[in-house]
Amino acid sequence: MNQNSSNPKKQIFMFRIQITILTLILMILITLTSCKQVPEAHAASDKCRLVWNDDPTSTITIIWDQLAGKQPAVFYGKKDFGRKYWKYKNQQTPARKLIDYYLMNTCYAKLENLEPDQTYYFVIKDSVGVSNRFYFLTAPDKPKAFTFITGGDTKSVSPSLESGRASNTMVAKLRPLFVLFNGDFTSGNGTRPDYWHRWLKDWDSLTTTQDGRKIPIVPVHGNHENGNKSILNKIFDAPFQHGDSTNLYYSFSFGDKFFHVIVLNSEIDVGGSQREWLKADLEDHKDFCFKIAGYHKPFRPHTSKKKDNDYQYDQWAELFYDFGLDLAIEADSHMHKITYPLKPSNDEYSHHGFVRDDEKGTLFIGEGSWGAKHRVNDDDKPWTFQSGSFNQIKWIHVWPEGVDQPAFMEIFTVITSQYDEALNQTFFVDEVESLTEENVFKIPENINLYLDSNSRKSVKYPFYLNK
Ligand SMILES: [Fe+2]
Repeated sequence: MNQNSSNPKKQIFMFRIQITILTLILMILITLTSCKQVPEAHAASDKCRLVWNDDPTSTITIIWDQLAGKQPAVFYGKKDFGRKYWKYKNQQTPARKLIDYYLMNTCYAKLENLEPDQTYYFVIKDSVGVSNRFYFLTAPDKPKAFTFITGGDTKSVSPSLESGRASNTMVAKLRPLFVLFNGDFTSGNGTRPDYWHRWLKDWDSLTTTQDGRKIPIVPVHGNHENGNKSILNKIFDAPFQHGDSTNLYYSFSFGDKFFHVIVLNSEIDVGGSQREWLKADLEDHKDFCFKIAGYHKPFRPHTSKKKDNDYQYDQWAELFYDFGLDLAIEADSHMHKITYPLKPSNDEYSHHGFVRDDEKGTLFIGEGSWGAKHRVNDDDKPWTFQSGSFNQIKWIHVWPEGVDQPAFMEIFTVITSQYDEALNQTFFVDEVESLTEENVFKIPENINLYLDSNSRKSVKYPFYLNK
């Protein structure tokens, strides 16, 4: 007879010993896991930028220059785990890499299947280390108030370089949902790697908020990119049409028929296939509450130094009006302008091919001067509502229809720097209050907003709201 198997007391004792050993092993494992250390070394990712180039309610592209190391990946999720990369729920390796192009090893990680109107936290990890923890917002899939910033024209050398940096810093202070950058990123023709490196490093360091929010850019091709007409696809993974990366124009929407953004290209044929694409895109999105378009060259510049763009007017102006484009955002001339809502016309009351139409017209705003030295605004038209000469960005608040208000946009012109007659620069950024995620519609303390002759600090659209 086997005494061991027949002795209940001994069996219970052995069972308890086994349980104790298992518990100890489990505790050691838990301790080892919780002791996992975040590497002190930072990842070798540099010049990080986030881009909206698809449906922004569910996707975002994170792009960076991999300076060294191997196996870079983005670790991300809706919960903030700081730099503890292993705790993030999701991981994405770059599906596209461009090695040694413009002296950069560019990695493109597209995050997909994100949830709308959410905050996502992320780090980039590689064999060298782990980046700082950053975060971004996805666009809402229902009509919801938001802000965005638009402007264009930066330069790579002083003193315009410093003006551009001031405008970049303002982006971080105002923390918009996205930035539509309206072309002309660097001096020259867009082919100098050192100028691009400088632009990307400035964008990375200056437009990121103090608490680590990275604001996605929507890039537009300008004439200072004409030395390489696919450069924005290489730098920002910007979309293109007809299988040709020099056909760099695209559109996207969010908010369930609330907001549609069209990016056009004034530096290739604006007629032909681009006009056909624009017509089809406007037709497909005609029921949207707001439709806006960004492109570099204005139809009618507000400085005598720049010529009218008649062919572009002939190809696009009628389509804008016929399909109810609300806002046309222009750049290139380096100044501030906002028109009355305009309808293309060549009747006896028209000037430069436009007449005022407050009810159905398109509002034209611009014209560049994010950083480039501002030109004199010496070519106003009878339908010009405001113009001025200073470095500026447009900060636009977008509101859906409410109980007692229509859907509307409110456009603030934020002056970021200015030259006096002796060419001394003054900056208007350092003293400006930084907004928080909870108050992104607040007018910050010490912000220098353009005031017109009626002390009006913003322009609303629909235009009848400017009473
Ligand atoms: Fe330009």
